[in-house]
Amino acid sequence: MQIKNGKIFFKNQLVERNLIIENGLIKRISNYSASEEEKQDEVVDAKGMLILPGLIDVHVHMREPGDTYKEDFKTGSHAAIAGGITTVIDMPNNKLPTITAQRLKEKEKLAKQKAICDVFFHMGATENNFDEIKKAEPLSLKMYLSETTGDLVLKDKNAIKKHLEIFTRKIVVHAEGQMLIDRLVSLLYKNKKGNIHLAHTTTAKEIDTIKAVSGTIEVTPHHLFLSKKYEEKLGKLTPVKPPLRDEADRRLLWQSLDKIDCVATDHAPHTIEDKEDGAYGYPGLETSLAIMLDAYNKKLLTINWIVERMAINPAKIFGLNDRGEIAVGKKADLIFVDTKQEWQVKGEELETKCKWSPFDAWHLRGKVKTVIRNGKTIYEGGEFVY
Ligand code: NCD
Ligand code: ZN
Repeated sequence: MQIKNGKIFFKNQLVERNLIIENGLIKRISNYSASEEEKQDEVVDAKGMLILPGLIDVHVHMREPGDTYKEDFKTGSHAAIAGGITTVIDMPNNKLPTITAQRLKEKEKLAKQKAICDVFFHMGATENNFDEIKKAEPLSLKMYLSETTGDLVLKDKNAIKKHLEIFTRKIVVHAEGQMLIDRLVSLLYKNKKGNIHLAHTTTAKEIDTIKAVSGTIEVTPHHLFLSKKYEEKLGKLTPVKPPLRDEADRRLLWQSLDKIDCVATDHAPHTIEDKEDGAYGYPGLETSLAIMLDAYNKKLLTINWIVERMAINPAKIFGLNDRGEIAVGKKADLIFVDTKQEWQVKGEELETKCKWSPFDAWHLRGKVKTVIRNGKTIYEGGEFVY
């Protein structure tokens, strides 16, 4: 496959280049040549498009197994692709939480059968599943210090310390509020400070606390773009963990843009009925990039910031070294983006099974037009074409 006439995000710049894709990988990045084009079985014209690496969302709740009435690997991955996200890392707080090697395997199998994006998994930490973690060798470990959907919360100080001490890859921590984050930092094993990643960080002070021990952090689009005053509009849809913060905190978060390592959606779909019963969480896969592109159009963010936080850094942080940027030898997961297209978010038209969005009715400028996964076009002009 050859992709021509697009502007490619290459070495931190947008440049006009020709891309040659072979066997699911990026084979060559060069200037256009007619003789090269003749050799190709498929030529894709990307005129007017920005070509970015497929995005990586490190915080997603696919809800399968257990809560497939809210989402499953099929609907969740369709939502991801429609949002330009070609890789997700799924969370372990299922009805039967992902805390054993066997459950992790079962999930991997389900995702392979049903998902149209790549799915990796965070394994849940409990008070005593050290052997299971050793056996499963997960990509990362998720530790809940705060109460949330499911019952994975870890209270025992010694268990927390032991996980921090022995797990060598990233440990993603859900800790809400400065007090808990300070507690987490006080428990860090002294030689291994850098391996924590704070999920859905909401304040500038939390960012500084984690950065001081060389950890990494993610923020969600909803904490960047919505604050408490928006809850009036959200009504019964309001509950989310962590809650939306005051407008002053939200503004301070924007002043810490440089320190944010990644944008992750915390895609946490619940039916409207469950929301009315108080369930926490917002869906986000289909709106996150578009919201960032809209902010780019308003000169609030740059394309570099967006690609770094939504592809390059997530790949680096979680060791997904075969993806995250457009470079020779990397996986050919690519998205074509029209930064000028105007559209309106309509919850009922989304791919997610829950069919609503906290950004419902927002007018946005910027949209994903085409998604290429493993060198194959699977989404084009709003339609799935695989
Ligand atoms: C998440 C969910 O519903 O699984 N909800 C949320 O409000 N963020 C749980 C979580 O991310 O901790
Ligand atoms: Zn979550």
